[in-house]
Amino acid sequence: MRSVYFDNSATTMMDSRVLEAMMPFFREQYGNPSSLHFLGDGAAIAIRDSRRTISKALNCLPTEVYFTSSGTESDNIALQGAALAYGKPGDRIITTSIEHSAILATADRLRELGFDIHILPVDREGFVDPEELERSINHRTVLVSVMAANNVVGSMQDVPYLAAICQEKGVLFHTDAVQGFTKMDLDMQKMGIDMLSISGHKFHGPKGIGALYVRNGVKLKPLFYGGGQEGNLRPATENVPGIVGMGKAVELAMEGREEDIRRMTSIRDHIIDGAMQMDGIALNGPRERRLCNNVHLRFPGISGKDVVFALSDMGLATSTASACTAESVEPSHVLTAMGIPPEEALSVLRVSLSRFSTMDEADYFLDSFSQVLKGLREGK
Ligand SMILES: Cc1ncc(COP(=O)(O)O)c(C=O)c1O
Repeated sequence: MRSVYFDNSATTMMDSRVLEAMMPFFREQYGNPSSLHFLGDGAAIAIRDSRRTISKALNCLPTEVYFTSSGTESDNIALQGAALAYGKPGDRIITTSIEHSAILATADRLRELGFDIHILPVDREGFVDPEELERSINHRTVLVSVMAANNVVGSMQDVPYLAAICQEKGVLFHTDAVQGFTKMDLDMQKMGIDMLSISGHKFHGPKGIGALYVRNGVKLKPLFYGGGQEGNLRPATENVPGIVGMGKAVELAMEGREEDIRRMTSIRDHIIDGAMQMDGIALNGPRERRLCNNVHLRFPGISGKDVVFALSDMGLATSTASACTAESVEPSHVLTAMGIPPEEALSVLRVSLSRFSTMDEADYFLDSFSQVLKGLREGK
């Protein structure tokens, strides 16, 4: 049976060149980067090189890049670290209704600690209103966190503009760029971003490795205490193979970035146009300012889960909303925040592409999808 992977927002296949770069660091160059001997040196140099590669991609200083275990950890360090360093109970933290649970659950925790958590709404396409952000910043606001690109519907916020508002108001700005990094312009010199989260497994790197950009001068309170690694912000013996793998993945992603974005965009639009020709299908999220690899469809009356299962039987890996909620029958909070009625929010499918996706796979998807819909409508 044919196998087509269209669930790249959940995770991506590791590039074989990434695996190759990582392998020596499991067996031959296994030293602890803090050790003084030659094996320690080798590991420390590899970490330095990866940090440089990532800082180049973000146009920031290497000292502004901190390695973490995941996008989730980066988000936690950014939010809790900034709240505890710069705020106190009663102070305001602003985020949005469509964030990943790594942000929303952390915001819940900060609410428990007494912080005033203000959740910004989004419009029907999944965009935050900058004026509404401006109005919600009060004299007790310490931090704003708005995701760069949404993992469900692919809406890309106007990050430079939102960051500029926060900069003008003297409020820290964090962005969860786990989905957006490598797929949209993120330039730390040009944009007033204070903190930015990324995760290796979303761009053909390994799982369990992430990074947090922290602008020089921003001093976060660590969540862990230990041996002083990563500038004391994230102490623990470094995940050297993971760090090397993420560095290699960034290097490869940045190499062919423009062309990859162009190709993914044309495959995305081909799928959207094809799906729009079928009966009873709507697009969730925007047409413009949409991630190049995201398609999210709605088909009232048919269960999204049934469609995912039927497509899976045909060798197509897709998703209803996001991997983290795939087991749950609850509608995605992102869709309901956009005003989609809860029952319709269960009749959805996300197709997410990678730079390895092809037009031929898109055609196979469109054929299979139309067959599956027909079958389900006829009650087969
Ligand atoms: C927008 C967003 N933020 C954070 C995360 C969490 O990243 P990780 O899986 O590395 O913890 C994800 C993963 O799906 C995501 O899509």
